Amino acid sequence: MKRTALITGAAKRLGKEMSIHLARQGWNIAIHFNSSDEQARNLKNELLRNFPDQKFEIFQANLSNSTRVEKLLPDVLNEMGKIDLLINNASVFHSGYLKETGLDLLTSQMAVNFQAPFILSRDFFRLAQKGLIINLVDTRITTNKSNYTVYSISKKALWELTKMAALEFAPEIRVNAIAPGVTLPPEDKDENYLNKLAQNLPMKATGGVKPILQSLDYIITNSHLTGQLLFADGGENLGQNP
Ligand SMILES: NC(=O)c1ccc[n+]([C@@H]2O[C@H](COP(=O)([O-])OP(=O)(O)OC[C@H]3O[C@@H](n4cnc5c(N)ncnc54)[C@H](OP(=O)(O)O)[C@@H]3O)[C@@H](O)[C@H]2O)c1
Repeated sequence: MKRTALITGAAKRLGKEMSIHLARQGWNIAIHFNSSDEQARNLKNELLRNFPDQKFEIFQANLSNSTRVEKLLPDVLNEMGKIDLLINNASVFHSGYLKETGLDLLTSQMAVNFQAPFILSRDFFRLAQKGLIINLVDTRITTNKSNYTVYSISKKALWELTKMAALEFAPEIRVNAIAPGVTLPPEDKDENYLNKLAQNLPMKATGGVKPILQSLDYIITNSHLTGQLLFADGGENLGQNP
């Protein structure tokens, strides 16, 4: 029986790349999206065209609404039959120093970036009972830079959750994380912006999406790996070259 992955925020960018990558390997994909309705439908159709023997369904959910989040896993199970892999990829990335952060930004970013993965991980344990969870964090968790305070805290918390869940859910469920660095430019910026940032990395270049897909493959195939974080960041977590 084919394996099934639920990928949150799968309609575009990294989520889309991971969906296509896993579909090529024979996975069925539950494509979660929030506002990217057209992109989600286009992705489903593209996958169905290329892999007609596999199952691809789209699931809309605003992950800042906890009631909706609690329905997502049951909906996916109902429609797809089973779920073997949960990738907590959806995220909001809003800037703001601590001193200027309002309660609305704090609660809305934590809801999507931390609370939703928390609920989905808990429900994956309760309902799927075995399999694999992969959380997308960020190489920023190694720093205390506060220009994206809530985003950074949400990703630090998600990494802590990864380890706690790995311990509690073993041996039935493995839980690991990937920390991308300079990978894709924000939607309002171009490749030049990214290449400039990449000059500060030890590897002096962005690796693009490939190191993340390779990390994904490594986590999936290494059946003894749990509670681990793979940096896909060109060495950014080490600091800058002397
Ligand atoms: N891109 C990078 O260079 C980079 C670097 C470090 C870490 N990361 C991490 O890698 C992951 C993927 O990165 P990305 O740049 O591809 O992410 P992204 O484009 O910023 O966001 C991915 C998806 O999250 C979904 N999302 C946002 N708010 C939501 C909400 N309220 N409810 C449900 N879904 C919501 C959006 O879905 P809709 O479009 O359907 O609304 C969006 O397409 C993220 O976790 C990010 O933090 C990325």
